[in-house]
Amino acid sequence: MSIILTSPLDMHLHLRDEEMLSTVAPLSAKSFSGAIIMPNLVPPISTKEALLSYKERILKACGKENFTPYMTLFFKPTYTKEFLESIKDDLVAIKLYPAGITTNSEGGLSGFDVEELRPTLTAMSELNIPLCIHGETNGFVMDREAEFVSIYEMLATNFPKLKIIMEHITTKESVEALDRFENLYATITLHHLLITLDDVAGGMLQPHLFCKPIAKRPEDREALRKVALEGNPKVMFGSDSAPHPQHAKESCGCAAGVFTAPIALQLLTELFVEHSTVEKLQAFVSDNARRIYNHIKVPTKRVTLEKEPFIVPTKYDNVVPIFATKTINYNIIKIEKIGDR
Ligand code: DOR
Ligand code: ZN
Repeated sequence: MSIILTSPLDMHLHLRDEEMLSTVAPLSAKSFSGAIIMPNLVPPISTKEALLSYKERILKACGKENFTPYMTLFFKPTYTKEFLESIKDDLVAIKLYPAGITTNSEGGLSGFDVEELRPTLTAMSELNIPLCIHGETNGFVMDREAEFVSIYEMLATNFPKLKIIMEHITTKESVEALDRFENLYATITLHHLLITLDDVAGGMLQPHLFCKPIAKRPEDREALRKVALEGNPKVMFGSDSAPHPQHAKESCGCAAGVFTAPIALQLLTELFVEHSTVEKLQAFVSDNARRIYNHIKVPTKRVTLEKEPFIVPTKYDNVVPIFATKTINYNIIKIEKIGDR
């Protein structure tokens, strides 16, 4: 049986810059129609010039592939409505990081004072620009995301017209919050659908499975699987594929991030087929995202997968992917581009 996915989208992707960008961008561009590009470069993307020139570098790295990079800015409470209006046509969302919570987030927000945030968030609501959030406090590592839910609630209540995307959710508490607020949505990664903390640290430490937020308990994974596998309209696929060079992962002080982009569609297909819900995969990898993101323009691409063994490469240049050397039961057998970028 063939599984056909139309215009798959990755709504949370790290492409980095320079050499790493050249390695990873073509891998996403090959099988995805587009992706929301994270702005946590050094320095972060926070001006129109930086955003446009990064977009150009990405397109150049993608070559001839039919792939749209949906650009984001690194949130600053100083962004004015005038500034946002001037960049709106090139901007798809703004990403908010609490200060120091993850890779290159030092310039993030050090507190959530609603009045300090009001002008920028009101302007974003009025311009219909979604706010993507890395939702973790600096509390105990297993509790950080659940503790952040009250901040999501505060923002969702104060800015009811603002679309808030809870990025890479990992807990049942976040899943439950989706039902309480019309304007809360979420991305879910492949790795958080597949692994728990046990896979990361239950045996020998697995640096290539270490990420932020860290994988949680089996019941959290169950809650994530439920909404993803039912194609729940409030959730969408965002890989959070976050490449780091092998030496930065296999070292004392392992960098956070799991590299999944080139094998994400194969593994998602395997997971959805195993759960007899493959008819919901199209919603999870494309349709929900298009609706949540205000019907963004998406290049058409048709990806065909079939049951056929695919051995995950040991490395892509110097980046080790999730499940390197393991065999996946589904493979991409055809990618058809339809139309232009
Ligand atoms: O594990 C992660 N890696 N989580 C993030 O939030 C950032 C990412 C990165 O940029 O490496
Ligand atoms: Zn990320």
